[in-house]
Amino acid sequence: MRLILLGPPGAGKGTQAAFLTQHFGIPQISTGDMLRAAVKAGTPLGIEAKKVMDAGGLVSDEIIIGLVQDRLKQPDCANGYLFDGFPRTIPQADALKSAGVKLDYVVEIEVPEEDIIERMSGRRVHQPSGRSYHVRFNPPKVEGKDDVTGEDLIQRDDDREETVRNRLNVYRQQTRPLVDYYSSWAQQSPADAPKYRKISGVGAVEEIKSRLFDAVNS
Ligand code: AP5
Ligand code: ZN
Repeated sequence: MRLILLGPPGAGKGTQAAFLTQHFGIPQISTGDMLRAAVKAGTPLGIEAKKVMDAGGLVSDEIIIGLVQDRLKQPDCANGYLFDGFPRTIPQADALKSAGVKLDYVVEIEVPEEDIIERMSGRRVHQPSGRSYHVRFNPPKVEGKDDVTGEDLIQRDDDREETVRNRLNVYRQQTRPLVDYYSSWAQQSPADAPKYRKISGVGAVEEIKSRLFDAVNS
């Protein structure tokens, strides 16, 4: 299974990715998690990326495409993978297409902007795994601690309201066009295009999970 979860910041891509990767036994390729790991490690890429991420902008296509190309060479990608937060621009989608990557599904998760700010302001993450919680909507079993490891949860630096608004603008301008890109490809050339599915991301985490599994079984 090879698929993309497409959707605005805070749509629940990371939350839902965990269910699919576990079910299909495939890795999650989250370019956001990869960049945050580089920031934490203090690599030259991390130092450069942090400035862009804190402002809510996008890291250059060249860097991201290189990161993903390297990641796809890892042996755990042999039986498929789930992209979360990639591709995010038309050039990134074109790079994937010209690399001959054959995707099964693109699933768009739709969430209205009003809900997004609230989701991000209450988000808490377990940095090493990328697991995501919400203080009200999806709380951990023990406040401030990861369910699996018991380690501390943190707030992401780019979840400040001003940065979130900027990320939403960037989404509208640079990433939203991928909705058309993949849906029209699926209409024009159903034999080689990934199947395009759109689900609502509003509701309980479990409800969205079942919509998502229906989408990738149809
Ligand atoms: P990235 O990490 O990809 O962030 P994003 O796409 O903005 O998405 P988020 O991680 O914020 O949201 P999500 O959809 O995963 O939601 P989550 O499940 O956590 O990218 C970060 C930055 O890195 C970018 O801004 C950019 O600078 C850079 N970058 C990354 N990839 C790049 C690329 N390809 N090209 C260029 N630059 C790139 O859920 C959000 C919250 O809502 C959580 O608190 C969660 O618990 C809660 N929640 C989840 N589901 C529900 C529900 N059903 N109801 C209520 N609350 C819910
Ligand atoms: Zn995420």
